[in-house]
Amino acid sequence: MKPLHKVTIHYKQTGRTISFDIPEGEHIMHFFESNGEPLPFSCRNGCCTSCAVRILSGEMDQRAGIGLSQEMQSRGYGLLCISKVTGPIELETQDEDEVYEMQFGKYLERIKSKAGNPFDL
Ligand code: FES
Repeated sequence: MKPLHKVTIHYKQTGRTISFDIPEGEHIMHFFESNGEPLPFSCRNGCCTSCAVRILSGEMDQRAGIGLSQEMQSRGYGLLCISKVTGPIELETQDEDEVYEMQFGKYLERIKSKAGNPFDL
């Protein structure tokens, strides 16, 4: 039997804090959904950052995600849709587009400021 770990999410948009004891190795988002607690998402493949969270304490296995840079991960962000439980963890949902803007905003600004071909980066 796999050990259980307490996973707590502060869901800022709803003002709720939700916790479950989840078996090690389970997908966090899937577990919350199957227990009646849907969380923010879009692609569900670790690409779009809609499900990004701040990691307040603990760690999770998010090796399957390609949409979050190593820099953002080292700054304490993670993607719920591809993450698995590795131990007790406390998370907080991001502000709308917070991670997307932090990660891609500099590129969008360059595109906006370009005259002519906006894709000539
Ligand atoms: S839902 Fe898109 S990265 Fe998680």
